[in-house]
Amino acid sequence: MKVANKKLDEDVFLGERKKVLAKWPTGKDVDLDEAIAYHKGLSEKRNFGKVVERLEHEGRTVVFTRAGTPIQEDEIELNKALVETGSPLIPVTTDSYSRLGRFDKAERALQDSIRNGRPMLNGYPIVNHGLKRVRQMTESCEAAYDPRFANLDCRLIAEIALAAGMTGVLADPFMTFGNYEKKASLEQCIANYQYIHRLVGHYAENGVIITVDLDSWMSHGPFPSSISIASVVAGALIAAEQGVKSIVPFYQFQGNMLQDLACAGLTRKLVKAYLNDFGYDDVVVPGLFVAQSPIFPCPRDQSYSYGYLSYTAMVASLARASAVTVKTIDEAAGVPTKETHAVSYRAANWILNVVRKQRIEFQSEKLDVETKISEMEVRSILNKVLEIGQEDIVTGFIKAVDMGVVDSPLSSNIHVKSRVFGIRDTEGAVRYLDFGNLPIPEEAKEFHREKVKEREVAEKRKMDYNVFIEDFWALSKGAITGS
Ligand code: 5AD
Repeated sequence: MKVANKKLDEDVFLGERKKVLAKWPTGKDVDLDEAIAYHKGLSEKRNFGKVVERLEHEGRTVVFTRAGTPIQEDEIELNKALVETGSPLIPVTTDSYSRLGRFDKAERALQDSIRNGRPMLNGYPIVNHGLKRVRQMTESCEAAYDPRFANLDCRLIAEIALAAGMTGVLADPFMTFGNYEKKASLEQCIANYQYIHRLVGHYAENGVIITVDLDSWMSHGPFPSSISIASVVAGALIAAEQGVKSIVPFYQFQGNMLQDLACAGLTRKLVKAYLNDFGYDDVVVPGLFVAQSPIFPCPRDQSYSYGYLSYTAMVASLARASAVTVKTIDEAAGVPTKETHAVSYRAANWILNVVRKQRIEFQSEKLDVETKISEMEVRSILNKVLEIGQEDIVTGFIKAVDMGVVDSPLSSNIHVKSRVFGIRDTEGAVRYLDFGNLPIPEEAKEFHREKVKEREVAEKRKMDYNVFIEDFWALSKGAITGS
């Protein structure tokens, strides 16, 4: 397979579509011309990008959660409950079987769920419900819908979700590669997501703007966010090349407030800057989304959960994000219920409404230092990737991963070197413990080394794997560093 950052030829794309739509019988109901006409009849409240634009304009932050349940009536009830808590953006999290392309198993479990009257799947199986029922579901609440999936081949899910009137779509090859797939290569992940981007591009060419959200390659534990931010920038360039016209980047919190504010601001700035520099200046970035440290454990203690999600909401407000993903109070226990969704987001909204309204502008020398160091790192990583790829971000990223120039600790994907390591400093900001082969400039390296040394002196112990594990659990225990 040879992938590059080049728009897929129409013939190649349409040829591939035939195979994708044939993967399950409901695929044959997708008719792009009909879907485009259907989208043109939807209100602004149904358009993800427009909703985010309005939130940005009004200076508001809302919760953009994760949610999905298999039975049609339950999904409709769930969405109504989310809208009632004040969320104009509705995720449609698909079940794990669907994400893995096992529509046969999803079908059986869907039928079992209906028969038993309780969910036997951990999400809403978009493909099995099929176009008509998904439309019926989305029409039951006037909100903007966004299907959630992150596995190797989610192309048919995207086809049906978009044709059914969803207007946002999580389509991030790096998140899929770095966080959800064990054996898939980066080439495979990029090729399949280029297809989804190309599909979104086809809608855009026909006057229908669908927003792609990029959630980034996250680290499996405390680790500086530069790789994560670089992956979102690269994802934006990849999506834009396929004709995507609206992109929402995510910044995933690591826990230290100043560092997170710096990196959130940087994500917003760099995604726009690189899109412009590469000539994709007609692509809009309607807002920035942030999320509660996604791969860290969640508290089992309910009071801690409220504390953690409220803290996340506060940092999101200070970051002036348009939306924030917070976990429900029962995230540590399993798939949330309609009721726990509601109580969790009511708490988050309390903070979002009270803090955001105050228009607090954070300025501090420490914030500037964090921004400077992170920007230096992200730019250096992207420069190296582009150099390796002879200006092609796709070929560059693929080779860079092979060389460990792009790397992540304790990766769940076997193709990642994982020769790098992170640790928290005394204030809980994430630092490199081992730089591996990352192209981090010397000035930044020195800064990280100093911070790690400070903690070693303060705690009179060596920073190592054991401390990393303690740091990994810290937030769930109500602390910013492990001990
Ligand atoms: N409902 C709510 N949250 C879900 N997640 C996965 N499936 C569902 C669902 N059906 C959450 C995970 C994790 C994130 C990736 O999505 O618990 O927090």
